[in-house]
Amino acid sequence: MKKVMITGAAGLIGRMLRARWQGQWALVLVDRAEMEPAGPHETVVRCDLSDHAAMQRAMQGVDAVVHLGGISTEAPWADIRDSNIEGCYQTFEAARLAGVRRIVFASSNHAIGFYPRSTPLTGAEPVRPDTRYGVSKAFGEALASYYADKFGLTAVCLRIGTARSPDEPGELRHLSTWISHRDLAQLIERSIEADVHFEIVFGASNNREGWWPDEAQRRIGYAPQDSADDWRGRVTEHANDRDPIARDLQGGIYCSWENTRGATPR
Ligand SMILES: NC(=O)c1ccc[n+]([C@@H]2O[C@H](COP(=O)([O-])OP(=O)(O)OC[C@H]3O[C@@H](n4cnc5c(N)ncnc54)[C@H](O)[C@@H]3O)[C@@H](O)[C@H]2O)c1
Repeated sequence: MKKVMITGAAGLIGRMLRARWQGQWALVLVDRAEMEPAGPHETVVRCDLSDHAAMQRAMQGVDAVVHLGGISTEAPWADIRDSNIEGCYQTFEAARLAGVRRIVFASSNHAIGFYPRSTPLTGAEPVRPDTRYGVSKAFGEALASYYADKFGLTAVCLRIGTARSPDEPGELRHLSTWISHRDLAQLIERSIEADVHFEIVFGASNNREGWWPDEAQRRIGYAPQDSADDWRGRVTEHANDRDPIARDLQGGIYCSWENTRGATPR
């Protein structure tokens, strides 16, 4: 049975994957927050990602890491630095030392948030982060590229759009960015199994108004089954959709927070 570590296992996506993957793989569940006790084929490790000794112990025998752990929105620099920079580095380093084959890094659309919505992206463009959080995701992608090229720790970086609880779009922007839990689980499974060296893949469901072409998705064999279009008409305009900076940019309201420049194109 393949052994998969999920960091950030107490979070929204981590809990969703744990429930779906029970019995499919042996799971090593890592988080600094409290988690449900271990079930069959599960190991629960409560530690900080930056605790390199604990991370190295937890990593023994792991085949693949799904690295979700970290601050998942904009936050003060010290928090981003500790979890998303130092914690991310220690996770990759523990994986390298343990001979892990594949790491799936939960990146974000906020690594490219300042691109206009009218610009379709492939993943090959320079990053344009919209927050300190987005900068930390660009760092994680760079780290993944480095570990793949130098150490053969192959990687898939997922620029996840919007995964929510409840499992449905909540703003007009989400009609472009939403990914269902079912599609996200499939995307991460394909990212674990696909025969690739390094990929950046956008993570959205099959949304008619999506901004991200699906070439890399096809390369890893991801075929979304859901679509935000099913919620069209039921999603009402949110205050974020009216924000004059947010409304034309892919990162939405993240582009507007702390912004002293306005919506002027580059
Ligand atoms: N949900 C989305 O729409 C979305 C979109 C883009 C990217 N992502 C990324 O996917 C990942 C998971 O997202 P989520 O929605 O489940 O987030 P979440 O906030 O629900 O879960 C993150 C988990 O990481 C843990 N964590 C944070 N810092 C830690 C540290 N230093 N040591 C140990 N554990 C730590 C938290 O305790 C939490 O349980 C995150 O990296 C997030 O940035 C999510």
